[in-house]
Amino acid sequence: EYIRLLHGLVTLETELVEKLNLKQVIIIPGDSEADSAVRRELGRAAAGVLNQHLGDNMTVAVSGGSTMAKVAEAISFSMPSTTVVPARGGLGEIVEYQANTIAAVIAGKLGGRYRLLHIPDGVSEETLEAILAGDAHLRTVADAIRHANILVHGIGEAVEMAERRGVPAETIAEIERRGAVGEALGQYCALPGKVVYVTSSIGLRLDDLAEIGTVIAVAGGSAKAKAILAVAGTGRQDVLVTDEAAAKAIQLLI
Ligand code: G3H
Repeated sequence: EYIRLLHGLVTLETELVEKLNLKQVIIIPGDSEADSAVRRELGRAAAGVLNQHLGDNMTVAVSGGSTMAKVAEAISFSMPSTTVVPARGGLGEIVEYQANTIAAVIAGKLGGRYRLLHIPDGVSEETLEAILAGDAHLRTVADAIRHANILVHGIGEAVEMAERRGVPAETIAEIERRGAVGEALGQYCALPGKVVYVTSSIGLRLDDLAEIGTVIAVAGGSAKAKAILAVAGTGRQDVLVTDEAAAKAIQLLI
């Protein structure tokens, strides 16, 4: 039975690689939405992928979120020459789920160093530009983020993420009106893969990942199926680490 299950998941991984145009898909058995042990496994699997891609003197950019917090928790290897940066500024999440916090925890686990972004997302472009123009240190961090060797990020359901971050009701209505189902890096995406609403940031954008070495997404639970499809459809994603529940729900949609 176990082998059969495993075989089914391997076949599904291959199917998703082809249909979602990815380099690698890893599916762990179970449903991380319903089972905290599976959530932990999802984190462990993503940490394993990071370990495989990590070499000396690399910069790793990370997003926030509860899934990424599990990835940070699961890291059990060291790579002291690593610099970890947040992929984005603050998005109004609780501190445990902020990208800065995740970056600091991961850097601590690796024995490496971190550089943080002490600037919120969602302020006007003019304000961001003014702050950047007056702060050389910030420009160095922004540059490190844009040229990261590896990006590891979570994917969320659009409306749920907007609500969790305290986005105003009118904006949430607009995000919904534009058909957004998924969110990653503060960007809200509609199917089959279009960014329809952007939170301003000096960090990474889904449509601007060309210079990033490897992009690793980690997200599980059947409720995230459309969100994963929408974000994967925006283009530059390499590895998807997910669970059986999400993978099977995605299969029904493609
Ligand atoms: O950007 C994606 C979200 O941060 C995912 O959050 O892992 O808590 O569902 P989550």
